[in-house]
Amino acid sequence: MRILSGIQASGVLHIGNYFGMMRPAIALQVEGEAFYFIADYHALTTVRDPKALRENTRGVALDFLACGLDPERATLFRQSDVPQVTELAWILSTVAPMGLLERAHSYKDKLARGLSATAGLFNYPVLMAADILIYDSDVVPVGKDQKQHIEITRDLAAKMNETFGPIFKLPEPRIEAATEVVPGLDGQKMSKSYGNNIDIFSDEKETRKRVMSIVTDSTRVEAPKDPSRSTIFQLYSLVASKDQIANMRERFQKGGTGYSDFKRELFEKLWEYFAPMRKCREEILADKSYIDNVLARGAERANQVADHVMTRVRAAVGL
Ligand code: AMP
Ligand code: TRP
Repeated sequence: MRILSGIQASGVLHIGNYFGMMRPAIALQVEGEAFYFIADYHALTTVRDPKALRENTRGVALDFLACGLDPERATLFRQSDVPQVTELAWILSTVAPMGLLERAHSYKDKLARGLSATAGLFNYPVLMAADILIYDSDVVPVGKDQKQHIEITRDLAAKMNETFGPIFKLPEPRIEAATEVVPGLDGQKMSKSYGNNIDIFSDEKETRKRVMSIVTDSTRVEAPKDPSRSTIFQLYSLVASKDQIANMRERFQKGGTGYSDFKRELFEKLWEYFAPMRKCREEILADKSYIDNVLARGAERANQVADHVMTRVRAAVGL
């Protein structure tokens, strides 16, 4: 089984990225041949600062490794180290129906947030389909917001197979039900672009400040509270043990504890949860060439597979 996923190099990683995509991807690395990449071509749709893009790309690689990606098991690489993927994106775009791309939520959301309508933003799902198909991927672990992109990938693969004969496998999304949408400080989906993120590796003071600023309702300290509607409780459920979760649920329902006490407990657990990853990150940072070596080895392996698939694609379409 080949497993593939990507993460954009558009900034530092938050705990929504971690629980929605990185943790499931890391868990899958022992179940098959995993390919994980940093989507720097995709990030170009929003990042226009070359230095920032380069730094973010290495930063995402660092954080992914610190969180447990094992480069002996999984192939970690930069999307742009396999430029053939843009050739495949072009070929796919020649069969991609405009209507299919016009229906993409992420494109509409980005315009609604004020990004200008570039062809790159519009073609984003075609490049993503190329990312997935060029490695003959079977399974794609992602958060729920990427579900439609995988459906588009399957549509494009099916269209190519119909037109030119069997070329591509149809990949399956793998979306972890419990963490498909991790809420941010305001209860909306956690996202850097909404500014409601808690980052995995910010310092203690900043992390505490973010946790203490989670939006709550005005229920009084003595009154019972509804855990299922609380961001504090939802985030706590991601990092605490079963017993601790049951205990917090009970105290929510009983009343007598204020939100700020619950927030303090959440901060403690969150800080403890990521402690081993912080330590690992320091170790990686101490070895100056480690990340570059991992990415260079990853690029070599990814190129082998991509070249193999592209030979098949070029022959099938007549190039
Ligand atoms: P992005 O930063 O948009 O490249 O997202 C990287 C991965 O993290 C994708 O698989 C997203 O689905 C996942 N992700 C991002 N935000 C969240 C969230 N709030 N909850 C769950 N998954 C998320
Ligand atoms: N679009 C994805 C995101 O924003 C990143 C991505 C690019 C990706 N190519 C991919 C994810 C291929 C999975 C497979 O999160």
